[in-house]
Amino acid sequence: MTLAIQKDTPQENALENRSEQKVVAKKIGIPKEIAAGEHRVAATPDTVKRLQKLGFEVLVESNAGEAAKFSNAAYQSAGCEIVSTATELWNRADVVLKVQPPAPHPNGQHEADMLDAHQSLISFIWPAQNTDLVNHLSSRGAAVLAMDAIPRISRAQKMDALSSMANIAGYRAVIEAANQFGRFFTGQITAAGKVPPCKVMVIGAGVAGLAAIGAAKSLGAIVRAFDTRPVVKEQVESMGAEFLELVFEEDGTGEGGYAKTMSPEFIAAEMTLFAEQAKEVDIIITTALIPGKKAPLLITQDMVESMKPGSVVVDMAAEQGGNCAVTKPNEIYSYNNVTIIGITDFPSRMASQSSQLYGNNLYHLLSDMGGSNEYKIDFEDEAVRGALITYDGEITWPAPKRERPAATPVANPQSELDAQVLGADTKGSSPLTQWIGYGALGAAVVTLGLIAPPSFLSHFTVFILACFVGWQVIWNVSPSLHTPLMSVTNAISGIIIIGGLLQLSGEWTTTTVLGAIAILVGTINISGGFLVTQRMLKMFRR
Ligand code: NAI
Repeated sequence: MTLAIQKDTPQENALENRSEQKVVAKKIGIPKEIAAGEHRVAATPDTVKRLQKLGFEVLVESNAGEAAKFSNAAYQSAGCEIVSTATELWNRADVVLKVQPPAPHPNGQHEADMLDAHQSLISFIWPAQNTDLVNHLSSRGAAVLAMDAIPRISRAQKMDALSSMANIAGYRAVIEAANQFGRFFTGQITAAGKVPPCKVMVIGAGVAGLAAIGAAKSLGAIVRAFDTRPVVKEQVESMGAEFLELVFEEDGTGEGGYAKTMSPEFIAAEMTLFAEQAKEVDIIITTALIPGKKAPLLITQDMVESMKPGSVVVDMAAEQGGNCAVTKPNEIYSYNNVTIIGITDFPSRMASQSSQLYGNNLYHLLSDMGGSNEYKIDFEDEAVRGALITYDGEITWPAPKRERPAATPVANPQSELDAQVLGADTKGSSPLTQWIGYGALGAAVVTLGLIAPPSFLSHFTVFILACFVGWQVIWNVSPSLHTPLMSVTNAISGIIIIGGLLQLSGEWTTTTVLGAIAILVGTINISGGFLVTQRMLKMFRR
C-alpha cells in the first residue's frame, strides 16, 4: 500500500520534498540520564552489540548504566568506549540516544545546547507538553526524533517504546499493589484456615491494562476488566479475566486503535458499574486514557470510601490528572485505610528490563533508518516522519496527516475465477474478443477429437479435468491456509514422484526423460514445502 503525504502549507511542501537526507552517523553516544529518579539507560551491553552490527561505534558515558545495574566493565567487554564526561560524549557522538528529554545538566549547560546541527538526538520528548524545549531544540538545527511520537502502526511495533514501557508499567503496577496489599493474591486452604482469593479490577485494557491483567492472573487473583472499546473483550477473556459489560450502545473505538472520548452519559453509566465493583474488589488498577487528553475521572472519593479497609488503588494515569479523585501524583499514601498509589515511574523501577526493551526499540529504529552506512532521515518513512520533531532548524512536528488510499473494491471472486478458468483476460479485452477466444478454443478441442487417437483422448480428458479440479481447489483456499495447503500439495507431489518412478526404465526415451523431470520437480516441491512450513512454524514458537 502506498501512502501519500498531505501537504498543507508551502513550507511543509518544501520540507517533505527533501525526501531522503543522508547524514554521517558513525558514532552513537549514550549519556548518563540526569533526571532525578531515572534509572534507565538508552543502551545495555546486549543492545550495544546489536548497534555495532549496524556498523556503529558506541561511546558510553562513565557510569551511564550504573542505576540499571550495567557496569562500565560490562559495556567495555561489549566493545564500547567509556567516555569520562557528558561534554566529551555529546561532542564526539553523531547520534545521541537518551531516555528522558534534554534538560539542564549539572555541568551548567542545557543538554540541548550540547547538540550541534550535524547531530541527531533520539529520546522521549513529549512535544505537546514541552513546546519550549521543542523551540530550543529546533534552534540547534539538529535532527531530533521523539520515541513517544512513533506512530502505533503495525510496521513500527518493534520501535514502539510507549508500548514496551506501558507493558512493564502494567506488570509493575500489580507488583506495587501486591507490596501494599496485606494478603495473598491466590486463594488457599491451609491448616490454619481458608484464604479467599484477591479480586482485582482493571479499568482500561490497553497495553498497560492487559499487562496488569496478565500479572494479576498469574499471581492467582480473580481479575475483572472494563474498557470502552468492546473489541478488547476477546483479549481480556483470552487472558482468563472477566470482561465487565455495560448495557449501553456506544463504541469507544477511535482512530488508529486508540480510544475516543465517551459521552457524559456513558461515563456516568460506567461509574455506576465501578461504584458497585468498588465495594467488592480488593484492588483497582486504573489505566484509562485517551492520548493527548486529560485522564477521565472514574473513581470518586465516595467509591474509595466504600472500599474494604486494606484495599489498594493504583492510578496509572496519575501523571495525566489521574483516574481517581484522591490520587496524589508520585506518592503512595493511605486514604481511609485504602492505599492510593500514584507512582509515575513504573518502568524506571524495573530499570534493567526497561533499558533492555527501550534499547531494542532504538536499535529497530536505527536499523529502519539504514544503520551506520546508510543512515538517513527519510521523510517517506511513516515511522521516522512521525517521530521527527525538529530538522534543520525547523519544527517538523506534528507530521502531516497521511492519506491512505481508499481500499480497493473487492471484485466478485466468482466471476474473476470463471474468467480465469476459461483463460479469458477480463481486463482490457472486449466481450467480442472473449467470445472469439472461446470459439477458437472450442474449435481446437473438436479438431483434436477428430484427429487424435482414442488412447490419447482418454488421457487428455483426465488432464483437462485434473487442471479444472486443481484450479478450483487451490484458487478457493484463503491465503491464511496456504501452509496446510502445502501439505496437500506435498501429498500430490508424492503421487507424481511414484508415477515418475514407474516410468523410469533402462533406456532413455521421451517417457523416461519426462518421468525424471516429474521426479525432480516433485522433489523440489516437497522439500520447498517442508522448508516454508518449518519457517512458518518457527514464527509462532516462543
Ligand atoms: P492505551 O491507550 O494503550 O490504553 C488506555 C486504555 O484506556 C484504552 O484501551 C482505552 O480504550 C481505555 N479507556 C479510555 N477511556 C476509558 C474510559 N472512560 N473507561 C474505560 N476505559 C477507557 O494506553 P497504555 O499505554 O496502556 O497506558 C495506560 C496508562 O498508563 C496511561 O495513563 C499511561 O500514561 C500510563 N502509563 C504510566 C506509566 C508510568 O510509569 N506511570 C508508564 C506507561 C504508561
